[in-house]
Amino acid sequence: MKTGISIFIAAFVALGASWCGLVLAPSLQLGGAKETVVLQSADHWPQQRTGDATLGLQVYRASGCAACHTEQIRQTGVATEVTVTGLGAHQPDDFGAFVKSLFILPTLVEYTNAIAASLQGWHGELPRTLLTSANQQVVSEMANRLKAIGVKSETRIVPQGDDIIARGWGYRQSVAADYLYDQPVQLGGLRAGPDLSNIGVRMPDANWQWQHLYAPKSVVKTSTMPSFKFLFEVRPVGHVPSPDALKLAADFAPGPGLEVVPKPEARQLAAYLLSLKANVPLYEAPFTPVTAVK
Ligand code: HEC
Repeated sequence: MKTGISIFIAAFVALGASWCGLVLAPSLQLGGAKETVVLQSADHWPQQRTGDATLGLQVYRASGCAACHTEQIRQTGVATEVTVTGLGAHQPDDFGAFVKSLFILPTLVEYTNAIAASLQGWHGELPRTLLTSANQQVVSEMANRLKAIGVKSETRIVPQGDDIIARGWGYRQSVAADYLYDQPVQLGGLRAGPDLSNIGVRMPDANWQWQHLYAPKSVVKTSTMPSFKFLFEVRPVGHVPSPDALKLAADFAPGPGLEVVPKPEARQLAAYLLSLKANVPLYEAPFTPVTAVK
């Protein structure tokens, strides 16, 4: 009997501890998450998806897209950039000489090569990024020196990391708020294909999405993505061809007199894909949106 009780207690403690770690702690941390506000704006984030897009999430789930695609952008840190936006009364040459005269400043010593490289082959085109650094002090030193001689500059927060810089998968890291209205969340764990957190910004055309789903190779020659033909209907062309019929190249077209139209599932899936966006700065994941220089 004594062993029975100790086994029961041991099992209770083991299961209880994992429940606390896997269920209770995350729920205390994120269970009360609410919409947040987009930085420097009154807009809320995230926005509830449309009905179609909400159904599309279930099509995404049922089709196993998350087996090959993630929806989580990683970030290693942030850097701040100083970008010259107006030379004032200066000419590119004398401005370049001025910048080089700053190289004796102790704070800038480490960056002299990078700054010199950013001025290489420059003939005054604006905007021009002079310096990128994770060190705020260096950045403000540079910005102050430029201001002192009447040169206009902007400092921008630029998230770093391969997902963002090298792969161009988004503007910032994914944060818990991004998934507020997703049930279940489709984080994915394997990247056979690109991350889709921001695909609605990258590929905002439903027709492209349909064509790609129907025959990936028809738009990306070397694609290894499987085709999802069952999301489409191949049918005889009626009196008037459907405006949504896919415009497929001859190799992929279904044959004379036939057209390929998206079923409701394909419409919902495309609506969901177009709703995937990670393009606004948040308090917990700030960045400076690129604005046109006047
Ligand atoms: C077997 C793995 C696999 C599965 C399953 C898969 N994909 Fe893909 N996907 C890829 C690969 C590889 C690419 C890159 C080549 C290309 O663009 O076709 C890709 C590309 C994409 C792109 C274009 C991304 C870009 O940045 O250009 C989209 C959108 C996409 N997939 C959506 C989906 C959806 C929606 C599903 C589920 C219906 C899905 N994928 C299922 C492997 C997969």
